Amino acid sequence: MTRKGIVLAGGTGSRLSPITQGLSKQLVPVYDKPMVYYPLSVLMLAGIREIAVITRPEDREQFHRFLGDGSQWGVSIAYLVQPRPEGLAQSYLIAEAFLDGAASALVLGDNIFFGHGLTELLHRADARPGGGTIFATRVQDPQRYGVVRMDADGTVLELVEKPQVPPSHYAVTGLYFLDGAAPARARDLTPSARGELEIVSLLDTYRAERSLEVIRMGRGFAWLDTGTHDSLLDAGNFVRTLQSRQGLQCGCLEEIAFDQGWIDREALKAQAARHSATAYGAYLDQLATAPPQR
Ligand code: G1P
Repeated sequence: MTRKGIVLAGGTGSRLSPITQGLSKQLVPVYDKPMVYYPLSVLMLAGIREIAVITRPEDREQFHRFLGDGSQWGVSIAYLVQPRPEGLAQSYLIAEAFLDGAASALVLGDNIFFGHGLTELLHRADARPGGGTIFATRVQDPQRYGVVRMDADGTVLELVEKPQVPPSHYAVTGLYFLDGAAPARARDLTPSARGELEIVSLLDTYRAERSLEVIRMGRGFAWLDTGTHDSLLDAGNFVRTLQSRQGLQCGCLEEIAFDQGWIDREALKAQAARHSATAYGAYLDQLATAPPQR
């Protein structure tokens, strides 16, 4: 069965208030596009076309207005709701019927990944027939994240959520490839002290059976934070710097869809027309008429 995608875009975004008083955090712009475009682009690069977006009930309409049914990008987007933020692992319970036994890739709606060779890493994770795959990257402040300790061969020795004394500098990024057993495993979890079904607890069930692979994103990768006003602006500046230097877009869903053969030139042109007042639209038009050398 083909792998399906889940974007978790719940939460209150309290650290981005007052912006998030009226707009879901994952719809806030990161330079020239809504934040959720970036994690969506990761699923699409992995070749995933059936995607569920999980939002707060009150944000569902807003997301639908931004993303529609996904057909403009040759994918299908379903909307599911998380009434209360009760943990990342709850995504698998909410999406259980949607997944219908399929393996999945869950990405957090506020995670931005950039790096040469990302697509190959995603394909490697997608190709694993069972078990789970996580992506780890070095950060300065591991106590803010899930942290993984590995041995020299990359075997996972320990996984711990927001440790006061981190066992390594490797954060577990918000991208998880799990097999079809994830919902059943999530059902067996008990909530943590903070009342959440922790993703790290779910991953730990795979680790205990030696079926958790960790892929290290080395120093050539950027994994960006968007959780605070400063880190959001930094992420926006990163995207702007990259795009204006290279003349190539980062997180451009139409470009990925076109490259994957999911939309044709006419559909790409139609999207270009929709955004014609912007450099984004001009880029799409260029892709449809005289594609830049990439
Ligand atoms: C969550 C996970 C954590 C992971 C992080 C990645 O934390 O619980 O393991 O490292 O996402 O963004 P949160 O940001 O929800 O506190």
